[in-house]
Amino acid sequence: MNIITSIEDMQKLAAEVREKRKTIGFVPTMGNLHKGHASLINKAKTTSDFVVVSVFVNPTQFGPNEDYETYPRTLDEDAKLVEDLGADVLFSPSVTDMYPLDNPILVHVTQGVDVLCGEKRPGHFDGVATILTKLFHIVSPHHVYFGLKDAQQVAIVQQLIQDFHFQIQLFPCPLIREEDGLAMSSRNSKLSAEERKEALHLNRALKLGESLIEKGEKSSDVIKSSITRYFYENLILGEVDYVDILRYPELKPAAELSGQVIIACAVKYKQARLIDNRILMIPAPKEALGYAKTYDEK
Ligand code: PAF
Repeated sequence: MNIITSIEDMQKLAAEVREKRKTIGFVPTMGNLHKGHASLINKAKTTSDFVVVSVFVNPTQFGPNEDYETYPRTLDEDAKLVEDLGADVLFSPSVTDMYPLDNPILVHVTQGVDVLCGEKRPGHFDGVATILTKLFHIVSPHHVYFGLKDAQQVAIVQQLIQDFHFQIQLFPCPLIREEDGLAMSSRNSKLSAEERKEALHLNRALKLGESLIEKGEKSSDVIKSSITRYFYENLILGEVDYVDILRYPELKPAAELSGQVIIACAVKYKQARLIDNRILMIPAPKEALGYAKTYDEK
């Protein structure tokens, strides 16, 4: 595996790969790789000819009081994992190369950012869209791979690809959980043992929301308050940041639920803010599908 730190070298290699008519699959990450990232790299391996993984902790997507400085940086371990998984390149540029001019130009996202993490982390998705625009120009991928743990990010990146006319196909990949149900995240390593135990309630709370929907509950307010109540009854160390249910990928609220929806939550612990979600399909009422009653049902 090739480790590349220079933007020029990466661009040159990408051009050579494209010249050979090979497809480039790209997995952008901020490092501290875990099984969730491994699943993206594996997917890239089976659907692209040449796989590039980037590791770059992007300063513009962190707010002033967030964990940019303390975000886990484990490049040596990451390089080993990327190599073991059979990727072709690990691209790890420096901050000064990626942002040489103190950010005079940033991409500004105007839709889908007034909810969930976008609402709680103002400017976060501008930073994500900015770095991905740069990375897409440097790596020149045909395919990109994103995990649905960050489902809002997936929806916004899909929009970025469409609005900026990138000729890139996005593969949304399933959220990967630990055996006990905790969604995998680089930030899990910052939880204390007690917090780690308590954090299992994120998945359980979402399961509760899902089971209410399965039982036919259509009111998002009812589901949101049941989940919120569950958190207040079960969280001692963590503080609820948000609980919401939205149409997905539109990220718009819906009082009456139908079609594809996301139930999402975020909980803040001392050194880590955790997010989790479930994306569900709610069948349309039979009448809306033009369903004709059978003789027996009349
Ligand atoms: O999901 C992440 O790790 C980051 O937001 C990304 C896409 C690598 C951009 O910095």
